[in-house]
Amino acid sequence: MFGFVRKLGRRPAAPPRTVAYRPRDCHAHVLWGLDDGARTRDEALAMLGLLRDDGARVVAATSHIHADRFPNTPERLRRAFDDLCRARDAARIDLELWLGAEYFLDEAFVDAARSGELLAFGPDRYVLFEAPTGPTVPVLLDEAVLALSRRPVTPLLAHVERYRWARTDEGWEVLEDLRAAGVRFQVNRTVGRVNVPGVGGRGRMIERLLDRGWIDEVGSDLHRPTADGRPDPHPVPAPATLPAAGAP
Ligand SMILES: [Fe+2]
Repeated sequence: MFGFVRKLGRRPAAPPRTVAYRPRDCHAHVLWGLDDGARTRDEALAMLGLLRDDGARVVAATSHIHADRFPNTPERLRRAFDDLCRARDAARIDLELWLGAEYFLDEAFVDAARSGELLAFGPDRYVLFEAPTGPTVPVLLDEAVLALSRRPVTPLLAHVERYRWARTDEGWEVLEDLRAAGVRFQVNRTVGRVNVPGVGGRGRMIERLLDRGWIDEVGSDLHRPTADGRPDPHPVPAPATLPAAGAP
């Protein structure tokens, strides 16, 4: 259990204003040239430095594996990971790196889960995967989780706060089923006014997840060495503009 969840349990009337970043970052696009994350070696190193300065001690490199948009293979990611480790050593950045991927929930992922040819990382052998964000519960969710449950891995659903399908009563029941099936949940950390618990659709989702104790990992989902870390940077308002903790 995380410190901020325990804190919430002791003081339920004063929810935290941010989702605290953790020393272990399970979601970052730090391999360069493979997806919409880091574009160059220098950019990747700047991102590692940023995460290190932010308190990370371990970062999982989780490039997209998405049959339509980023048709990466585990082998390609392994080679890029070796390059990143060498670059980190040369730059003397004190950060442990793990190799994973952010799998998109498609037929190719279900096939990979069935065959067991998956990139799993960390002591829990996480397999990070993302689902479509639209309003409909993804049809492949059942098949993928069933296949993963037969492997010695732990499914980790990426940025759960983003899914519109999960915000409905039906979606909440699906999340409950996923928990029962052993799926763990990752949310993206608070950046500026984004993902503030209780604020906006994503923030309200995070608040509900916190209330249930269903947040297992917090990731940066960092794509660029910028304040908001997104592929297409946009200005992030200063945290000072946030509403006070507990404000409506
Ligand atoms: Fe991501």
